[in-house]
Amino acid sequence: MNDDPMQALVQPATASSDRALAPDIVILAAGESTRMRSKTPKVLHPLAGRPLIEYSIRLAESLSARLPTVVVGRNAEALQAQIGDRAVYVHQQQRLGTGHALLQARPSLQGHSHAVLVFYADMPLVTLESMQALLALHQHNLAHGGVLTMLTFESDSPRGFGRIVRSAAGQVLAIVEEADCTPEQLLIAELNPGLYCYDADWLWRSLDQITVSPKGEYYLTDLVAIAVQQGCAVLAHKASDPVEMMGINTRVHLAEAEAVLRARINRRWMEAGVTIVDPATTYIEDTVEIGRDTLLLPGVHLRGQCKIGEDCRIGPDTTLVDTTIGAACRVQYAVLEDTLLEDHVEVGPFAHLRNRAHLAAGVHMGNFGEVKNSYLGPGVKMGHFSYVGDAVIGQEVNVSAGVITCNYDGARKNRTTIGDHAFIGSDTMLVAPVTIGAGARTGAGSVVTHDVPPGQLVLGVPARLRPPREE
Ligand code: UD1
Ligand code: CA
Repeated sequence: MNDDPMQALVQPATASSDRALAPDIVILAAGESTRMRSKTPKVLHPLAGRPLIEYSIRLAESLSARLPTVVVGRNAEALQAQIGDRAVYVHQQQRLGTGHALLQARPSLQGHSHAVLVFYADMPLVTLESMQALLALHQHNLAHGGVLTMLTFESDSPRGFGRIVRSAAGQVLAIVEEADCTPEQLLIAELNPGLYCYDADWLWRSLDQITVSPKGEYYLTDLVAIAVQQGCAVLAHKASDPVEMMGINTRVHLAEAEAVLRARINRRWMEAGVTIVDPATTYIEDTVEIGRDTLLLPGVHLRGQCKIGEDCRIGPDTTLVDTTIGAACRVQYAVLEDTLLEDHVEVGPFAHLRNRAHLAAGVHMGNFGEVKNSYLGPGVKMGHFSYVGDAVIGQEVNVSAGVITCNYDGARKNRTTIGDHAFIGSDTMLVAPVTIGAGARTGAGSVVTHDVPPGQLVLGVPARLRPPREE
């Protein structure tokens, strides 16, 4: 047997003999979340780029190889769409409180494992370390006949948390919900974050003993007093960082949690070798990856599935959404959505790229340009005031100031194709569908309505091949 209590409980379950050692994890997520005043279920509100529930699921996944059980309510469909087969679902038909919610998991989990870890789905800041500390203490508690182990924390802003009532000798006696507290109990600074580990047999046996509260709910927190009445030890470990223990009940809490996560994410990237000039104005979602020695200037927002290579300089004031950027790129004052930049690309100031824009290596896209659903080949220069939509542009093409692909005829989006080394003169209108051959040129202000053969020059409105010069 392993002496290390952590090992015993944290180890992922593989062979069936190990199974009993890994805890079952139950996440309570069936609440109505009325305090959010939202049409969207609370646990699906986004936080640093991921829905709230994701944080609980990930925590569960790092604690146990078993699928967590999620108790769902009216939000079942939306939640299942989000989490899919990464959890087992049980339904709580009526919102009768957290104790009643956990009861719904009993039929599927009773007799399954030795330990059951329960937490609420609205706690995105809890770290793996804190949970491991809880499990370690639980192992110790079990060895001394205890049945319930929990985390607590101290804070001078108790905002709705249950209070931990202890005896004069310091033994935990009960959790009292804020609404039910006496004036003296309201002054208790030790609070219940809602992270519990139970001896499984005891838990499933004792859940029925919870009685309905004056509010008409069955409080999971009552299990503490029930255990104490039975003479079973309840151990509590005071967590050192109260910030982790925050539960999200309102949109104010959501913004507070977002600020904490943002600071954590920024720190993580700085420690990994990314320079962040002003962390206070840098917003990186949890889903983003950034290469070493990349510099982020103030006002950068990196959202969704973004991947940024090494040695880039991003910002100031730039938003990237679902965008991949190669190495050594420069992007300033720009918005890039669903875009791919290869290495050594320059974008901005003031550019908008979207809908599968793809700029190959060495492209220079300067001021006030827009690129949509288009490929710009290696070395293309597009310096000023252009719109390129639904186009494929070969390598080393010069797109002069004010060039526009007229890709929409009122009914359909039409394609523009430009061959390698073509030169598109200033203010050219390329009326799509149209193809400009390799090495072809268009004169300034031309309106191109027909294909241009390779190597030819067209001029005028509508553009025509330049007549042979007379001697
Ligand atoms: C709960 C605790 C409180 C603790 C606080 C920590 C109880 C009775 N109270 O209060 O001691 O300090 O969390 O944040 O447990 N849920 C269900 N079904 C229900 C009711 C709730 O699944 O019928 C779920 C919710 O979706 C939520 C979690 O349980 O994820 C907690 O519910 P919530 O209403 O937020 O409890 P609090 O009032 O915050
Ligand atoms: Ca809560």
